[in-house]
Amino acid sequence: MTIKRGGIRLAKRLDEVGFSDIVQIRNKVMTMRAEGLQVHALHGGEPYFETPEPIKYAAIRALVENQTHYAPSSGIPALRAALVEKLARKNKIRVTTDEVIVTVGGSQALYAAFQSVLDPGDDALVFSPYWTPIGDLVTGAQARPLLVPTITARRNGIRRTLEQFSTPKTRAIYYNTPQNPSGLVFTRAEAEEVAAFAIERDLIVIADEAYEDLVYDGEHVSIASLPGMEERTITCFTFSKTFAMTGWRAGYAVAKEPFMTALRKIVLYSTNGVATPVQHAMLYALKITDSEHVWRRQEYRKRRDLLVKGLNEVGLECDPPAGAFYAFPNVAKIHKNSRTAAQILLEKAHIATIPGSVFGAQGEGHLRFGYAITIPEIEACVEALRAFLA
Ligand SMILES: Cc1ncc(COP(=O)(O)O)c(C=O)c1O
Repeated sequence: MTIKRGGIRLAKRLDEVGFSDIVQIRNKVMTMRAEGLQVHALHGGEPYFETPEPIKYAAIRALVENQTHYAPSSGIPALRAALVEKLARKNKIRVTTDEVIVTVGGSQALYAAFQSVLDPGDDALVFSPYWTPIGDLVTGAQARPLLVPTITARRNGIRRTLEQFSTPKTRAIYYNTPQNPSGLVFTRAEAEEVAAFAIERDLIVIADEAYEDLVYDGEHVSIASLPGMEERTITCFTFSKTFAMTGWRAGYAVAKEPFMTALRKIVLYSTNGVATPVQHAMLYALKITDSEHVWRRQEYRKRRDLLVKGLNEVGLECDPPAGAFYAFPNVAKIHKNSRTAAQILLEKAHIATIPGSVFGAQGEGHLRFGYAITIPEIEACVEALRAFLA
């Protein structure tokens, strides 16, 4: 009998999965800084403030009290109960504790969501420009992202555009509001159109509400709260942005059956849950009142207005983004290729941004400027832009 050897090779499902361009830009900035250069860092997506002290102390207390053992892999009951209350109050999503699962950041929630519903050969509709990892999460499930230009959809009608881009193999829609990188916030009427389309075609919606607390104009509508949507939506949330907890890796997903069984399996076999002290910190974070979020939002709005005004003054056309903490101006004035534009800006003006094309072809011609930084940092960036473009 001959033994057939597979050889040393990677699983084919990783062939199409890319590795973040954003990480490469971060590395370049670190190198420049190590060389003693001052870099205006607008490439990131991290809140400008530190994790609030009481949240940190909640984690320390949990450690001291030996909350260091295995917890239920879907999350400690008290945290899930607090999330159920938050979801009903804030998102109008009414679920039981069995329908929420605590995850390692929003990223694990999204990974588990796509893995749960996509089969090889399936298609998923993705409004574009989109947060880069989504394309990789879809291809990692051996499915195909169908990019739907958001601007066209807004102009020609969301439902009509989704119909136009949909195929018989479409199983899911990725629905992110507020959006990274454009800052766009879908209106209630638009959410209703997406919902109507999903119901008509019997599609699953993977909703990403990472920036739910950062809406400056309009309202945040959780699509799962619309009639007929709770049974077909997996909604993914994170503590990263609202509570400045990016490094804690704290998130959660909410969904009905049969999705929850799949999410539980994926979380169990990938991480077996979230670090127990982190879950205690999350529980504490949920005690932070809405008035604190309002105050933070005002701080972000100031930053948005300052940056957008500066961008327009130097001729980089930019409408004020309605949400999240990114501005996405047209940078044709620097270069029509966004990768070249980002490179020029980094090398000549020491301003780090992200080329729009990494967020899909529909992002070409734009750069993403993250404004979750301090006011003096934004002022210094605008000055550097002015000096460079004047
Ligand atoms: C649109 C969007 N969704 C989800 C996430 C996931 O965040 P995390 O994994 O830090 O929870 C991010 C982070 O940048 C994001 O921009």
